[in-house]
Amino acid sequence: MMENIVNKSGTAVHSTLELKGVSKIFKSTSPLNGNTDERCAVEDISGILNSGEVVALIGENGSGKSTLLNILSTFLKPSSGSVFFDGKDVFKELRTYRSIVSYVSESGSCVPELSVASNLEYFSKIFNSNENIREICEKVGIAEFKDKRPNELSKGQRQRLALAVSMLKQSRIVLLDEPAEGLDIETKAIVKNTVRNYKRLGKLVIYVTHDEDEIEDVCDKIIALRRGKTVFFGTVDEFWNKYEKYYAVTYLVDDEKRTEIMSLDQLKTRKFVLNVVHIRNLGLREILNLADNSVESPDYVQSSSRLNLKE
Ligand SMILES: Nc1ncnc2c1ncn2[C@@H]1O[C@H](COP(=O)(O)OP(=O)(O)OP(=O)(O)O)[C@@H](O)[C@H]1O
Ligand SMILES: [Mg+2]
Repeated sequence: MMENIVNKSGTAVHSTLELKGVSKIFKSTSPLNGNTDERCAVEDISGILNSGEVVALIGENGSGKSTLLNILSTFLKPSSGSVFFDGKDVFKELRTYRSIVSYVSESGSCVPELSVASNLEYFSKIFNSNENIREICEKVGIAEFKDKRPNELSKGQRQRLALAVSMLKQSRIVLLDEPAEGLDIETKAIVKNTVRNYKRLGKLVIYVTHDEDEIEDVCDKIIALRRGKTVFFGTVDEFWNKYEKYYAVTYLVDDEKRTEIMSLDQLKTRKFVLNVVHIRNLGLREILNLADNSVESPDYVQSSSRLNLKE
């Protein structure tokens, strides 16, 4: 049996989630010519995550983030490889494992016919929850929408509802698929606070986010995927030791705007001689792309002049 999050003496129980060579191949048949196509959505992912850690899952569109979360939630079975929670194969302990996992997927999972309040009551019963629904509604800011149905809510309000549902469960692992992507500052702050609180409670949180400040603030580890493969699996500090920060620097040359990608060192030395118009931090996805391209052409990131872009 998998243990509770705190033992009898009230101290947090340390748990591990281990991925061993996890791969998922999707097969599809073309309706036009009947040809079958195989796509490896995630490939040979291995690593260990611990309770109390917050893990950012990053990567460009189609890199396999949702597929990996679907596997970790056991919605999808891997084609090969295994996932172990405290040494036990989660696909052999489905019921017990599912009882300790909260998953807010890309599509959400609320009952469309029920109001916000009834959805929360329904999930509260399913999860056998002791949590106070009113308090949760207030925490995520959905108290004023409690009588609305999910399809009457905006995207951000629906995300808040999904977060509220995840809070009802006495989970030890929380999986969140882009809970704050494209949402307003207030909703982003709610997500950040919720994640922080989960960490405080000793839960393992794995969530898709590309917000650099948020990652610096709340995340311990980063898993970066590219075309289904792990390009990075380690701590946030290790990530910044491996990947340099880059900036898109726009400056004027004879009234013409030019943009160059520069490392911090290049920026420090060149900003005094350039007529800089604006500077933008490159996002994590862009940094990963730069670094990956540099493997194919090693001087790509060093020689900023090769990246000259005209606006
Ligand atoms: N059910 C499926 N059947 C076939 N192919 C799939 C299925 N689900 C995902 N894929 C493919 O697997 C790859 C990874 O998809 P996935 O949804 O995991 O990416 P993602 O990183 O979550 O992307 P996004 O940032 O757009 O959400 C993609 O090429 C996608 O087309
Ligand atoms: Mg996705």
